[in-house]
Amino acid sequence: MEFRYLKIEDYDEITGLWKRAGLKFKPEGRDSKNEIKKQLKRYPDMFLGAYEDGKLIGIALLTDDGRKGWINRLAVDPEYRRKGVAQKIILRAEEHFRNKGINLFAALIEDWNIPSMNLFQKVGYKFHKDIYYFTKRDSDEY
Ligand SMILES: CC(C)(COP(=O)(O)OP(=O)(O)OC[C@H]1O[C@@H](n2cnc3c(N)ncnc32)[C@H](O)[C@@H]1OP(=O)(O)O)[C@@H](O)C(=O)NCCC(=O)NCCS
Repeated sequence: MEFRYLKIEDYDEITGLWKRAGLKFKPEGRDSKNEIKKQLKRYPDMFLGAYEDGKLIGIALLTDDGRKGWINRLAVDPEYRRKGVAQKIILRAEEHFRNKGINLFAALIEDWNIPSMNLFQKVGYKFHKDIYYFTKRDSDEY
């Protein structure tokens, strides 16, 4: 498996994988091509792609605030699941953050997503059942 950072030219491949993986995204808002283009301009290394034989089989959106690294939108092609691909992506993402001097890694997981909870616990993430997530958005597309 090979890793590379994805560019705006890979937009259709990125959204194609999100769709195949059943991951919810906001194509009219923060995940539109225009928005992603703007985000990539500021953060050129935010999309980590995992490739097998030239095919994009896994992806993660990596963000940080200089103190904590977030692993978002992790998705693996259904045909390549349960082979350790997601675990490798997480470990590679941690390296990405360490290279920036960040040593705390985090992910938000919805309460129904048992596969994802098992996955993160398996690679050493601690479950915080005492934290609640609050958001405010300018529209449902964000
Ligand atoms: C969650 C997801 C990324 C896992 O990808 P994957 O490459 O299949 O995961 P791995 O093979 O690295 O699995 C590692 C561990 O995670 C857990 N796990 C993965 N899939 C699981 C499932 N369907 N049910 C239960 N546990 C699961 C297991 O502990 C597994 O170890 P094991 O195979 O030795 O039992 C993938 O199922 C996916 O893309 N889901 C849809 C998108 C999504 O929900 N993303 C997470 C957003 S937070």
